[in-house]
Amino acid sequence: MAQYTANTLEQHWMPFTANRDFKADPRLVVRSEGIHYWNHKGEQIIDASSGLFCCAAGHARKEIADAVGQQLMEVDYCTHFQLGHPSSFEVARRIAQLTPEGLDHVFFANSGSEAVDTALKIAMAYHHARGEGQRQRFVSRERAYHGVNIGGTSLAGLMKNRQAFGAVMPGVVHMRHTWNPEDRFTKGQPASGAELADDLKRICELHGGETVAACFVEPIAGSTGVLVPPVGYLQRLREICDEYGVLLVFDEVICGFGRTGQAFAAQSFEVTPDIMTMAKAITNGAQPMGAVAVRDEIYDTVVDAAPDGAVEFFHGYTFGAHPAACAAALATLDIYESENLFDRAAALSPYFLDRFFALREAPGIADLRGYGMLAAFELEPDGAPGRRGAKAMKKLFASGLYVKFTADCGLVAPPLVVREGDIDDICTILEDVLTDL
Ligand SMILES: Cc1ncc(COP(=O)(O)O)c(C=O)c1O
Repeated sequence: MAQYTANTLEQHWMPFTANRDFKADPRLVVRSEGIHYWNHKGEQIIDASSGLFCCAAGHARKEIADAVGQQLMEVDYCTHFQLGHPSSFEVARRIAQLTPEGLDHVFFANSGSEAVDTALKIAMAYHHARGEGQRQRFVSRERAYHGVNIGGTSLAGLMKNRQAFGAVMPGVVHMRHTWNPEDRFTKGQPASGAELADDLKRICELHGGETVAACFVEPIAGSTGVLVPPVGYLQRLREICDEYGVLLVFDEVICGFGRTGQAFAAQSFEVTPDIMTMAKAITNGAQPMGAVAVRDEIYDTVVDAAPDGAVEFFHGYTFGAHPAACAAALATLDIYESENLFDRAAALSPYFLDRFFALREAPGIADLRGYGMLAAFELEPDGAPGRRGAKAMKKLFASGLYVKFTADCGLVAPPLVVREGDIDDICTILEDVLTDL
């Protein structure tokens, strides 16, 4: 179509995109509803990745759009530096109802990346308030993705996301990732590998546990390709953190809000962190919002350390807890509750994973992994890493299926409102396209 010539796309420098390739043959989404997108050619596409793991309740939910519109006409903007509007307090209360017991204080940001940077600063502020300001070191993991701000880039364990950006934040040490080639095609948690958590102990022994502020992990490493934690691994991390006084941070930006069959992966894996980051599905993707939930003692320690009447934590975003985002969050949380979407995810997961793991028969599949309503297929590489994945992504889109790829790995995380028939459709397109790639 004439209005979509490459020239009109030039000025937008697109993120995590092959700009030249995209602009030569764009994939433009002009409508969304339910589990579907429609492109500028009028073709219907199944969204098998919930946007970017955001739209758990499906696209274009009227309840959310109405709530946002109404909010903008009531209070369109209000800072929450020394001022507030009621809905942010209600969102915090509702999130605190969903988080594990004792993580009942919530700080707002606008994205997962900001939530991660906020969590880093909360950890530092907490140790500073306790007189342990020497805890400046952070532990992360190979293959981790914690967003793209300087803090998250420093924690990053994906080479391409670090390579061009120099030394970023000093003092970050990486544990090994948990992928083990012997566990290929494991559905759910690998039985072995818990001992990889001992990397944290070794780091504490090497650098001095008293210098380590926090250990950040995605409970399931999502963006790198759904690395499900081995049985006992997260428990072991918890024990080591307790032994050395290190805060355990779960980055639940992908896992949160039902993806694992419970509100958060912390509950699915029965390990309670000290801090949790979240974003994406908080608002069903309809408005930008990120949040950090912290253990009450962390809030109390930072707040109580400041003199009466003084600001306690010198951090915050102009758009944090934006009224429109809060309205979207409240409407979204209402939908999750009234439609029982977290339970629905748990109930649907066995069907989803069984159907998905039938892909094993397709040619060129190097590995399959999955947990809850989150799964990944890894393609045998074809020369340069990512080449085959890019080809697959384009061919799938042309065949009516959107799948988010990281290099040669396709990440499948359908909206939690999908039906079994939709799962069949997703897997059939995958089988057809991958067989003929
Ligand atoms: C675990 C994790 N943390 C942080 C982020 C960054 O979130 P955002 O893109 O909203 O900044 C992501 C995004 O995919 C993520 O998966």
